Amino acid sequence: MLLSLLKKIVLLSLYTIIFACSENSSKTISNNFFPGKEWIDNNGVAINAHGGGVLFHNGTYFWYGEHKIEGKIGNTAQVGVHLYTSENLYQWEDKGIVLKVNETDPNSEIYKGCILERPKVIYNKKTKKFVMWFHLEPLNMGYTSARSGVAYSDSPYGPFNFLKSVRPNAGVWPLNVKDFHKKEVSEDVKSVYGGGPEHLPKHVDSLNILGRDFEKGQMARDMTLFVDDDDKAYHIYSSEDNSTLHISELTEDYLSHAGRYKRFFPSKFNEAPTIMKTSSGKYFIISSGCTGWSPNAARSASSDNIFGPWKELNNPCVSKDSLTTYNSQSTYILPVHGLKNAYIFMADRWTPENPIEGKYIWLPIEIKENRIEISWRDKWNLNFFN
Ligand code: GAL
Repeated sequence: MLLSLLKKIVLLSLYTIIFACSENSSKTISNNFFPGKEWIDNNGVAINAHGGGVLFHNGTYFWYGEHKIEGKIGNTAQVGVHLYTSENLYQWEDKGIVLKVNETDPNSEIYKGCILERPKVIYNKKTKKFVMWFHLEPLNMGYTSARSGVAYSDSPYGPFNFLKSVRPNAGVWPLNVKDFHKKEVSEDVKSVYGGGPEHLPKHVDSLNILGRDFEKGQMARDMTLFVDDDDKAYHIYSSEDNSTLHISELTEDYLSHAGRYKRFFPSKFNEAPTIMKTSSGKYFIISSGCTGWSPNAARSASSDNIFGPWKELNNPCVSKDSLTTYNSQSTYILPVHGLKNAYIFMADRWTPENPIEGKYIWLPIEIKENRIEISWRDKWNLNFFN
């Protein structure tokens, strides 16, 4: 009698434990995306990869992003670039910091406390190197230096070695340069510093920031990378004090600018650029306006050629809260491997007062002939694309 009671108690406790575990793990192993909700890694810790991008290599997805820490100081780079990997895009394994900020040499451009944003990694088939580019502002420069950092690794798991930082295309005019760019630049223009439309006159193009920066190289802040079908890679960044987007070809090794670039959407202040190419060869850009950490309405544009002409389209977001991009800002467009025309819009819901709390918005992009649409979904999965 006592024995059978004991058996029952043991069995009951076992069931309770098993049930509790499966409840718990159902959260972790749920094959769904929950945009804007906490997203935990294999250790049960919130994924910390902001302003990120995803590389697909040999069957694995690699998500690289800014590691943020608690408090406002977390808006600067205190740790480095964090990597997570996944086979299915739902569950992510923490692989640690793959590009560490320098903590020993204050002369290093990536010294702890610098601003290191929007890291993106691409694979170079020829050199077999993984190449990372990011927006870099060395320590105590605010956002004024507007440089691009480059690092590389033999493995997607890192560690990445910091190579250099540059102002793109020093001494090179864009393919679509206008005559007035080559004229003498006035003293006013030489001193102007923007960072947002409110700092600059309406006709910012007349300021000729391009001409001002011709010799020392063009400004480059928010950015992404794109490898085209012919393996040519492009660096796409907000330039000319964020007023104009530049699309710039990289050299064959992806480590420098090739000197072939074009400027688009002058004076439109596009930030957070992202790009995709459909199976029929149409390119789409999704970007944001320029309002710092505060969200604004996304923009989109399409083209049959990466070097344009680009046609401006509407805000791709169509559900409630479309005017704030569902309270987020674009960071990358992720093509789902093995599915035709399946693209995920990746965006950040920033929390600049405590950046580590920032959440991720992943939503499917719907291709509607000549435009794209992003609807809000509380929960969705890859079956959406079938
Ligand atoms: C945003 C930009 C972020 C960060 C922020 C700083 O507009 O997209 O990457 O630079 O400004 O205020």
